[in-house]
Amino acid sequence: MMKRIVLAITGASGVCYGKRLFDCLKSKAEVHVIISERGAELLKLELGLAPSYFSGEQVTLHKTSRMNSSIASGSFHVDAMVVVPASMGTVGRISAGVSGTLIERVADVMLKEKRKLILVPRETPFSTIHLKNLLALDQAGALILPASPGFYQGQNSLESLVDFVVARILEQLGMEQNLLKPYEP
Ligand SMILES: Cc1cc2nc3c(=O)[nH]c(=O)nc-3n(C[C@H](O)[C@H](O)[C@H](O)COP(=O)(O)O)c2cc1C
Repeated sequence: MMKRIVLAITGASGVCYGKRLFDCLKSKAEVHVIISERGAELLKLELGLAPSYFSGEQVTLHKTSRMNSSIASGSFHVDAMVVVPASMGTVGRISAGVSGTLIERVADVMLKEKRKLILVPRETPFSTIHLKNLLALDQAGALILPASPGFYQGQNSLESLVDFVVARILEQLGMEQNLLKPYEP
């Protein structure tokens, strides 16, 4: 059966990771996309894209301000949620259980239902507060997968570095990926 995946894009730099993940998932999974207000600004700034880019046969685009949505409920089975990129603001609010937007609420549901929540933070340097929030989320069951590509593949084009991170996300989702070959010395 096709996996049901929630992809959230928030207002951190590196929206290219979210876009690339979407491109890889859209024909292979049922994808529910949520874009924060600042995430939409970053999509425009960094990629020249509008939220309408995130469309497709098995794709639903949700408004993060609209809580009255199927995915806000634990009774709607979602296999996994990926927040990519994850801003420190969103990380902090998920960690505090704020649940004030659809992104925060779905992340909260993933944690309470013990489902897979993958957070891809992008910030540097990290403050003590960022690190404490990330640790709390790890302890609550989330997977912290930093947007931190390796450079050992040799051909380090921008695309291959983005693919490095996206491949690791796809592996964590249990999806086949051919973006990154296993390391061979
Ligand atoms: C151009 C730009 C780049 C930003 N990059 C980052 C970033 O890399 N990481 C981060 O945590 N916040 C970053 N921010 C700050 C967030 O956008 C801000 O904290 C915002 O409130 C996050 O909202 P959201 O989590 O609802 O998307 C950036 C803001 C701007 C305008």
